[in-house]
Order: sequence, then structure tokens, then C-alpha cells
Amino acid sequence: MPNLSIFKSAGRLVTGRDALDSLQSALEKMNAKRAFIITDQGVMNSGTINRVLEKLNIPFDIYDQVNPEPELEQVERCIELFHLQKNDVLIAVGGGSAMDVAKCTAALSDKPGTVRDYIGLDTISSRNIPLIAIPTTSGTGSEVTNVAILSDTAKQTKEGFVSEALLPDIAIVSPYMSLTCPASVTAASGVDALVHAVESYISLNRSEITDGLALKAIQLICEFLPQAYASPEDLTAREKMATASLIAGLAFGNGGVGAVHALAYPLGGKYKMSHGVSNALMLPYVMKWNAQGCEERFTDIAVAMRLEVSADHAENVQKVVAYLHDFCRNLNIPSGLKTLNIPFEDIPYLAEEAINVKRLLKNNPRVLSLSDIEEIYREAY
Ligand SMILES: NC(=O)c1ccc[n+]([C@@H]2O[C@H](COP(=O)([O-])OP(=O)(O)OC[C@H]3O[C@@H](n4cnc5c(N)ncnc54)[C@H](O)[C@@H]3O)[C@@H](O)[C@H]2O)c1
Ligand SMILES: [Fe+2]
Repeated sequence: MPNLSIFKSAGRLVTGRDALDSLQSALEKMNAKRAFIITDQGVMNSGTINRVLEKLNIPFDIYDQVNPEPELEQVERCIELFHLQKNDVLIAVGGGSAMDVAKCTAALSDKPGTVRDYIGLDTISSRNIPLIAIPTTSGTGSEVTNVAILSDTAKQTKEGFVSEALLPDIAIVSPYMSLTCPASVTAASGVDALVHAVESYISLNRSEITDGLALKAIQLICEFLPQAYASPEDLTAREKMATASLIAGLAFGNGGVGAVHALAYPLGGKYKMSHGVSNALMLPYVMKWNAQGCEERFTDIAVAMRLEVSADHAENVQKVVAYLHDFCRNLNIPSGLKTLNIPFEDIPYLAEEAINVKRLLKNNPRVLSLSDIEEIYREAY
């Protein structure tokens, strides 16, 4: 194995309260003549889309029908619409759902075959259509990752596309874009960002670069997510969360996530549960399980959470796990698979699905067998 590591990110990261002002000059530099915007009804109906549209000085088309946890077919539809006009740049305005559909549309609109053919690792060699990502939730970090996640309705699973061609050219991250985010979405997507940070901090694929990013993201999220949830119009809290989610995206986009995500995917695929909620449901249980062998890392996490730590790492593990339970409860995220009416008899099925998410389980600090996974689901029931 060569001893080198490559750090991947979007081409340029523009953050801060005036970030959207950079859109026009970015389009000029790209020599863009017509834009195709991919967004959703929440972003349209809240009026947040206007913050982007008012900065545009070129003609555009909008596809605004992306649904949460979007299906592969959404990309097929967008590719068709993209080609109806001479569009030469793609702008994603939305949460992870709209961004992921846009990332795949930009990368696949000039490729042969079907969208399904490109599921998996390093399947897309290039992208010719410029891509700008403008997140409206603070959670997924999709604006800076080489990942897109789409639902496969027939298989009742979520499929991952992982290729460098999916990295946006520019991420424009403005705190104004998340001001209208509904409280439940603020909470769930914010916890997703926290999961990205804690999972990348204990990932086997971590590096010193991702470690630094992960700890900073944990600190910001623990401090500002409760504030953004309680006071949706608090611009400082929104700004800190927008940055935290980007930083967590950089951490997991390079260091990887593990078993929390692997066990959450089947919940999203089968019961159409939101990505943030399914992650939150599994988070404390998987973390408790994962601590074995990396207890000191939990002490670092506890410090970033500003918990009072002791010299005993095992004690700090317990404090982190208890904190995660309380943190999600205080954000009114449902806890317990039972509360969400998931049949207990489905656990073996869920475990079979989760163990197939090898792409993520290979990063997990603890090797999990099928019966371990079933046990974790039972604990989380
Ligand atoms: N590509 C990645 O790196 C990555 C990482 C994590 C998750 N994901 C994927 O991202 C998706 C989840 O994304 P998400 O959590 O950002 O939620 P989302 O994009 O599904 O949006 C959730 C809801 O919030 C609404 N909404 C979003 N922003 C709004 C705003 N500013 N104002 C009003 N309404 C708003 C939307 O209309 C939607 O109804 C899942 O499919 C998940 O698998 C991708
Ligand atoms: Fe996630």
C-alpha cells in the first residue's frame, strides 16, 4: 500500500453571510449562459429559493419536485429535462435530497446506460457539466462530498454513488438558506452532521486532518444545534451549524462513516424514514457498542462536547452515550424503533440488509457479525 493520503473537497468553498453574492461572478467565470436548478417544494414554498434567483443574471429552468430520500428515477427525470434546453450549468438548492439528485444529474447527463449502472465506487470517470451546490439544511455535508445517496424503490434500499466526479465545483454555504428550515428538519439533519463527525472520528480510515475537522464539528454542533432548533431565526446559530455541517462533511467525506449509517440505511430504505431520524435512532446504541477498543477517542469526543471528563476512559464512554441520548431527546427526535411502529420481527431482515453495507462497515472500529447487528437493533427497539 502506498503511504499517501488524498484530501477531497468541492473545488471552492464559499461561506459566510454574504456567500450568495459570489454566485454571479462564479457563473461568469464558468461562462454559463443558462442554468438548470434542482430544488424541492419546501425550498420553493418557503420563499428561500428567491435568495438564489435574485442573484441570477442568466436564464434558468427549475425542477422543484425532488422528494425527501429521492429515488433513482428522480435523476432520470432531471437528465431528460436538463437536455430540453441548452443548459450549461447545474445549481443544486436544497438539502441532501436535492443536492444528491443534482450531483448525479450533472455527472450522468452525458453518460451512456442507466443511472443504476453507476451505483457503487468509482464508477463515474468524469463530469463535464459545472456544478454549484447551495445547501438549505445543515446536515448532510453533501455540498463537499463525493457521495450521492438515492433510494431504490424496488429493492427497498438506499444505494450509494461514490465518485470524484460527484464533488461540486463550488459549495456556496449561506446561513440565510436554512432560516426557513422546519424545526424537525433542523433537528434531524443537525444530528446527521453530528453522526458524520463522531463516526469519522472513530473511523478506521480517519487521518489527522479528518480528526481535527471532526472534533471542531462536534464542538460546534453540540453548542449551536440546540440554539438553532429553539430559535430558528437566530442567524448566528444557523451560521455556526452551516459551517459545522460543511466541516463534518469534509471529515466524513475523507475519513468515512461506519455502523451508525450502515444500520440506519435499511430503516430509511424500508420504512421511508428520514436519514437524520434513522441515524439518530441508532446513534447511541452503535456508539456504545463501538467504544470497545477506542475508549480514548471517546474521551476526546467528550472534551469536544464540553463534558466533564475523568481519567477513566470507560467512564467517559458512558458519559458520551448518555449525552447522545439526551441530546436527541431534547431535540424531540423520536427514540426507539418500537415508537416508530417497526415490527420486532423485521429485525433479522434489517440486519441482513445492514451487513451488506460493506462500503461503510469496513470503516467501523469494531467488526460486527450478523448476530451483533441483530443485538444492536434489539437494544434500539
Ligand atoms: N451525499 C451525501 O454526502 C449525503 C450525506 C448524508 C445524507 N445524504 C442524503 O441526504 C438526504 C437527506 O437530506 P436532508 O437531511 O438535508 O433533508 P432533505 O433534503 O430530504 O429535506 C428535508 C425536508 O426539508 C425541507 N427543506 C429543506 N431545506 C429547507 C428550507 N431551508 N426551508 C424549508 N424547507 C426546507 C425539504 O423540502 C424537505 O421536505 C437523504 O437522502 C440522505 O441519504 C447524503
Ligand atoms: Fe449521513
